[in-house]
Amino acid sequence: LFSSAASSSTLTHGDIASTHGDADGVVEVNPPRGTRDFPPEDMRLRTWLFDQFREVSRLMAFEEVDFPVLESEALFIRKAGEEITQQLYNFEDKGGRRVVLRPEITPSLARLVIKQGKSVSLPLKWFTIGQCWRYERMTRGRRREHYQWNMDIFGVPKAEAELLHAIVLLFQRLGITSSDVGIRVSSRKVLQAVLNMYSIPDHLFTQVCVIVDKLGKMTREEIEKELVSTGLSSEAVQGIIDVLSIKSLSKLEEVLGSDVEAVADLKKLFSFAEQYGYADWICFDASVVRGLAYYTGIVFEAFDREGKLRAICGGGRYDRLLSTFGSEDIPACGFGFGDAVIVELLKEKGLLPDMSRQIDDIVFPLDEELEGPASSIASSLRKKGRSVELVEDKRLKWVFKHAERINASRLILVGNSEWERGMVRVKVLSTREEFEVKTSELE
Ligand code: HAM
Repeated sequence: LFSSAASSSTLTHGDIASTHGDADGVVEVNPPRGTRDFPPEDMRLRTWLFDQFREVSRLMAFEEVDFPVLESEALFIRKAGEEITQQLYNFEDKGGRRVVLRPEITPSLARLVIKQGKSVSLPLKWFTIGQCWRYERMTRGRRREHYQWNMDIFGVPKAEAELLHAIVLLFQRLGITSSDVGIRVSSRKVLQAVLNMYSIPDHLFTQVCVIVDKLGKMTREEIEKELVSTGLSSEAVQGIIDVLSIKSLSKLEEVLGSDVEAVADLKKLFSFAEQYGYADWICFDASVVRGLAYYTGIVFEAFDREGKLRAICGGGRYDRLLSTFGSEDIPACGFGFGDAVIVELLKEKGLLPDMSRQIDDIVFPLDEELEGPASSIASSLRKKGRSVELVEDKRLKWVFKHAERINASRLILVGNSEWERGMVRVKVLSTREEFEVKTSELE
């Protein structure tokens, strides 16, 4: 995310050799390239963002699930030439099993759905927030580990409108508007229809999708070359490239005809979007295909309208993933929403919230022998739900400064003369008011 992973420094021999015992006495203090530490200020931001993910999931009536970050490699072996399968952090564990640090969560989700078998009641609406690992070339907002919020629905043929609603709700909670961000929507069935037009065999479909997804990252000539090498005629390649440039549903209908499934699905989705009230967030764009092999229908990606950043989130329908794991298929649809690009966008738009620390009370005994009573005050305030820092062995001046620095609401001074009368001194930091209060009435 967030800010502090950027600096580079090493501790020298004198700093740490005595405690770390490294061979040449120098330890790299930065985490591995592309990964992050989360010092308190970054962790506060991460927690805040995850709280937004969780709140939207709650509004949408999804249940939270979790999976191991370490998964079996077999779950991620796919043969369509996807980038993600070439970026795996994979290795053999001490028991000789091939494992990976998961690059995405969808296969784990599918695994659990299969494992639960008949005991799952459909429709199933699950969300999760978890860390994913990809050996990426690093760019702004793309790193080697990231957290992804996933929402997925199993067992509903038309769940896309709900998922898009969730994404829009999240943006709105963050203060992002439809003039900042849009969601491009298409369907893999568009490409399927083109392949049908040229009688291209089904087994080439996934491969073609994965190649076409690289448009924008590779030149058009390179893409055409790759398509031709799969065995497509140059006429079919031209047909595919032409269709991908279509940016309106009416034009798509003109080219493919209105009885094509892709057109009907998309028209329905856009009309739902009107009803939900988020039509201004979405636009049809046939060039959205997505790089993962398993998508079968509607696909979508959110982007910043200034075009400075990579995709903010992406997802789609994957009705045939379970059968690739040897199980019976269930219609499924979902999205992954990373933690990195969205924070970049919030920074760009000046929408990052105030992330200063907030605690309720600092309790400070003015005398060593009042440490006991101060602990008892801290204890009773904590029982009442207040966050309390107990400070000892400091000068009063330091305590005042500290209270301001950590944004405490009140400073509670336990002094001898007050304590004898069952009282303490309270200073309210925002108003600078000071008064005496009975300890029993401190809250
Ligand atoms: P994906 O497009 O590969 O889809 O990733 C989803 C989102 O995760 C991206 O839009 C981005 O926000 C974030 N992301 C991916 N890679 C990185 C990276 N290297 N650094 C930072 N952020 C990243 C999937 O993973 C699908 N499994 C999503 C899905 C769920 N489809 C259906 N259900």
